Amino acid sequence: MQVTAESARPPVVRVHKLVKRYGGFEALRSVTLDVHEGEVVAIIGPSGSGKSTLARCIHQLESIDGGAIYLDGELLGYRRYGGHLRALGERAVAQQRRHLGMVFQQFVLFPHLTVEENVIEGPIRVLGDSPSDATKRARHLLGRVGLADKLQAYPQQLSGGQQQRVAIARALAMRPRVLLFDEPTSALDPELVGEVLDVVGDLARAGKTMIVVTHEIGFAREAASRVVFMEAGRIVEEGPAHTTLAAPRTERLRTFLSRVI
Ligand SMILES: Nc1ncnc2c1ncn2[C@@H]1O[C@H](COP(=O)(O)OP(=O)(O)OP(=O)(O)O)[C@@H](O)[C@H]1O
Ligand SMILES: [Mg+2]
Repeated sequence: MQVTAESARPPVVRVHKLVKRYGGFEALRSVTLDVHEGEVVAIIGPSGSGKSTLARCIHQLESIDGGAIYLDGELLGYRRYGGHLRALGERAVAQQRRHLGMVFQQFVLFPHLTVEENVIEGPIRVLGDSPSDATKRARHLLGRVGLADKLQAYPQQLSGGQQQRVAIARALAMRPRVLLFDEPTSALDPELVGEVLDVVGDLARAGKTMIVVTHEIGFAREAASRVVFMEAGRIVEEGPAHTTLAAPRTERLRTFLSRVI
């Protein structure tokens, strides 16, 4: 087999035969997914299909019951001892999680900090950036998400869409290898959805590696390179976003799309 520089490089995120149970219920049933540098993977599927569980497992917010997750080839959350996996301690997990940015449905900003302070907090405290470097980067990122004029505002003075854009800037400020989104627009008023999706679309065009759980099929078609359709804890179909959404191979995805579009 010919090994090129390209193929020798591990995927940014590799999910291999991931199993997640809640009690006797299997929320993820052997999910395998590779996400390569610069890819934008949209995860779609009906409610309860395991989309958030998958994002939460990748972000190390959940223990796993089978399989493995790797970031740049490094096993996440566990260390291998012979044939066994042993869970890493809190600190080691926190170290790994730094490389995984996550933006949730509910914008979680510090209410007592300004927009700018929200964005510089992580880089200073966790990455050890100097306040002046962190501030310079924060201003750049806030400009990128269209909030250059809101640096000194407090979260409660912003709209939901603006708060979510601060949350995206805050996640980016940690310079993550990959950015995970779990339905970043589903808590927003309809007229604010577009401004947040525009920011995510800009990041996609800039080549940021992202995994986006979304029910915005139009967005998935336009911004994602690949779409993954989940049902009942499994990946039922995946492929290039445009063709997969235009002409699904499985009846399941066809039915799903006819319901949501
Ligand atoms: N903490 C938990 N305890 C027990 N069951 C859970 C837990 N979290 C999720 N589940 C179950 O796992 C399944 C997958 O849930 P998940 O939240 O991943 O679905 P989802 O695809 O994100 O759905 P939605 O589109 O509604 O957000 C569901 O049946 C859910 O009830
Ligand atoms: Mg969910």
